[in-house]
Amino acid sequence: MRRKLAAGNWKMNGSQAALAELDAMAPYAAAGDAEVLICPPAPLIAVAAGRAAGIAVGAQDCHANASGAHTGDVSAPILADAGATHVITGHSERRTDHGETDADVAAKTQAVLDAGLVAVVCVGETLEERESGKTLDVVGTQLAGSIPEGATAALVVAYEPVWAIGTGKVPTLQQIGEVHAFMRAELVARFGEAGDGMRLLYGGSVKPGNATEIFAVSNVDGALVGGASLKAADFGAIIDALNAA
Ligand code: PGA
Repeated sequence: MRRKLAAGNWKMNGSQAALAELDAMAPYAAAGDAEVLICPPAPLIAVAAGRAAGIAVGAQDCHANASGAHTGDVSAPILADAGATHVITGHSERRTDHGETDADVAAKTQAVLDAGLVAVVCVGETLEERESGKTLDVVGTQLAGSIPEGATAALVVAYEPVWAIGTGKVPTLQQIGEVHAFMRAELVARFGEAGDGMRLLYGGSVKPGNATEIFAVSNVDGALVGGASLKAADFGAIIDALNAA
């Protein structure tokens, strides 16, 4: 049985004061079996880690190296030392804003695994790619190129269509189901039993109002939530929906 995961990505939002939202999320996390994760900006990780019972804390990115002369970067071991248990890699905003390639994402993901942390690897097509019928090709290529050999069942993959992120637009349930079934088959073909154990999250405009129907889709093991993870009332409702799924 794959443990459900509600993951929040705060992106470049938040403050020490905003971490009070984590306290308000704790009762939702305590009410069910789903794992709950919040990924705040890096400077908040050490303050957030261990603050609220049942709320794991992760990072949004890391460098591929463990240490060295890389001004402004943060490594997976440093994140682990700060209390992070998970690291998001390959988010489309990193791929777009920082030109990260699949090879870059694979190297970062390897660094996450080497540090003993859980990687949440993001993939997803642009609107143009979807409209030209390339979705499965794009997702397949990103999956193959972004996940290193030796990944175990602990790895998490997030399917985030670029056109659904922060837009309020969501694919149909059939479209989500098609991509998730495809990803499951690809991961099982490559990693065998481990591929069956990897959790597959959907991400992109997940809200309290659409969470229940999305969580009912086969091979959707949870969500990676941006905007709706900033407030405990919204994220709590999404956690409730996942626990009820
Ligand atoms: P959103 O972001 O929920 O605000 O659309 C999702 C994400 O980028 O992970």
